[in-house]
Amino acid sequence: MTIDRSNPRSPEADIDSMFIDRWSPRAFDPTPLTDDQIESLFEAARWSPSCYNAQPWLFVYAVTAEDRSRFLSALVEGNQAWCRRVPLLMFLLCRRNFTHNGKENRHAPFDAGAAWMAMALQARRLGLHAHAMAGFSREAAYEILDVPDDQYDIMAAIAVGRRAEPGVLPEAVAAKELPNNRKPRQDMVREGRFS
Ligand SMILES: Cc1cc2nc3c(=O)[nH]c(=O)nc-3n(C[C@H](O)[C@H](O)[C@H](O)COP(=O)(O)O)c2cc1C
Repeated sequence: MTIDRSNPRSPEADIDSMFIDRWSPRAFDPTPLTDDQIESLFEAARWSPSCYNAQPWLFVYAVTAEDRSRFLSALVEGNQAWCRRVPLLMFLLCRRNFTHNGKENRHAPFDAGAAWMAMALQARRLGLHAHAMAGFSREAAYEILDVPDDQYDIMAAIAVGRRAEPGVLPEAVAAKELPNNRKPRQDMVREGRFS
């Protein structure tokens, strides 16, 4: 990958282009995904690393009109505005305790995050995009999914599909339809100690 310092989305060091290629659009084509595509997304997530190999993630997904509309109802309005067109919606849950000893798994959210990223990268391999969301009502999500709160935390909602032209979005949302930049790498790395 070429490093172009005049381009704000150019990496600061040589990395695989898949990392730059992944971003979170909001304009989606409502065409349903194939079963093969959906299986491939979850399969990529399945191979993620996790503490004690506990694999604490659980993806609950919606593809039918009925399920998607139920999932939509738990999202905040801002996300509903663009998620109406999304063919695959899901919630990513993580199991709070280890199954082998019942103790709290403090690392479950970390592992669920790894599974999400694997899925997001696989989505690009399939010509799709994945967009994670924290903008949902936890109460509503617990209710519509019928999830036991004492066993699972709901980490994020996720939209997956093929991109569409930004023109399909409400004007205010379309204006934000650009890949983001990042802080300089020096702001996120320290050698040796914190300060
Ligand atoms: C946990 C999480 C929660 C997010 N919540 C929302 C959200 O509610 N609505 C939204 O439009 N984008 C949401 N995003 C997308 C972020 O805004 C986006 O990932 C970030 O700006 C970086 O941009 P990029 O993914 O395009 O590289 C979320 C992303 C993550 C990882």
